[in-house]
Amino acid sequence: MNNFEFRNPTEILFGKGQIEKLADKVHEYGTKVLLVYGGGSIKSFGLYDDVIQRLQGADCQVFELAGVEPNPRLTTVQKGIDLCKQESIDLVLAVGGGSVVDAAKGVAVGAKYDGDVWDFYDRKAVAEAALPLGVILTLAATGSEMNRGSVVTHWEKQEKRGAGTTFPAFSILDPTNTFSVPEDQTVYGMVDMMSHVFEQYFSHTENIPLQSRYAESILKTVIDNAPVVLEQPKNYEARANIMYCGTMALNGQLAQGVETDWASHGIEHAVSAIYDIPHAGGLAIIFPNWMKYVYKENIDRFIRFATEVWGVDPSGQSDEEVALAGIQATREFFNKIGAPVRLADYDIDDQHIEDMAQKATHFGPIGSFKKLEKEDVAEILRMSL
Ligand code: NZQ
Ligand code: ZN
Repeated sequence: MNNFEFRNPTEILFGKGQIEKLADKVHEYGTKVLLVYGGGSIKSFGLYDDVIQRLQGADCQVFELAGVEPNPRLTTVQKGIDLCKQESIDLVLAVGGGSVVDAAKGVAVGAKYDGDVWDFYDRKAVAEAALPLGVILTLAATGSEMNRGSVVTHWEKQEKRGAGTTFPAFSILDPTNTFSVPEDQTVYGMVDMMSHVFEQYFSHTENIPLQSRYAESILKTVIDNAPVVLEQPKNYEARANIMYCGTMALNGQLAQGVETDWASHGIEHAVSAIYDIPHAGGLAIIFPNWMKYVYKENIDRFIRFATEVWGVDPSGQSDEEVALAGIQATREFFNKIGAPVRLADYDIDDQHIEDMAQKATHFGPIGSFKKLEKEDVAEILRMSL
């Protein structure tokens, strides 16, 4: 295990009815609130009205940044920053999925920065100050509710980049707020959290039994609960288990003491930057191909994955067969729950492969399980066509 220092300051308020604490939590930071939300789903199931009533009932002044896009745009983030600066906002409150939370994070750090907020995403500056951020999560997927990552798209440059920004001060995670998530987004969410585990599980670091078992438990919990949430979208316990998995998959704990990879995310962001496809739709396609491309780098890790996570019986099989059976099981699971399989499912052909490979390796080779140069990325993309 490698050395590590770990601190995660986000306060999690998990479960039905936790919104009761919203006004008290907001008052810890002030009364001028910028409410950030997406295309209106929170209005369709009553959460918007509930939040507004609670804030106004607690004498808060509410400003709004509405219409945050899935794959949030820099221009939207900039609008929020301008509002914060004009109105001297005390707290940014994100109500939505990962895109809304990520945009709100960009707003929170941009409001305390004199330069261009894209500097953080372009690795030209590091965020040192931020407005406090509260979150009410409505989609279990990204883990953004308990980490400091933010992913924003610069549409004109066709660049989708992640940056370390700010941790939410508090996050309200009420599984009932995910009951209305449509089937496709529920599937994407589960693929995304599983992919976050993969990025931290496929590692060369040795002697990490706790991190490995933690990762395997998250994967198995998602695998067990997936059919339940898909058949019964209002099953509280299943939605709760999935929501908790999403948060724990990317709140930093799995990465402690471990060399992590993140190449597949880098490749997916390059695909989304050009084609604007759902993040985890891209991951479902790319990850099994990445696995196939890299498994020989540390076949033991893939044997463990196959046997521990997918229950592959190794008897009578070669190491290679066991490793490949685990990869095949991953592919089949994604297929079974209805995730896309090939880039062609999004009408993506080989036209921009070089461009995507270039974008993914813009800052140099990516990944650590196998360092991927531009040509490696292009090959994985070709395998994904
Ligand atoms: O826009 P609204 O109306 O809110 O609708 C959204 C959107 O259309 C809808 N939705 C959300 N909650 C709902 C709901 N519909 C009905 N009922 C609800 N309760 O779902 C759609 C997708 O929402 P989005 O926020 O885009 O999804 P997700 O949470 O998957 O976030 C994806 C974004 O997060 C980034 C991705 O790249 C992508 O841009 N990521 C952020 C990470 C982080 N900050 O740590 C890590 C991830 O790897 C990822 O890259
Ligand atoms: Zn992701």
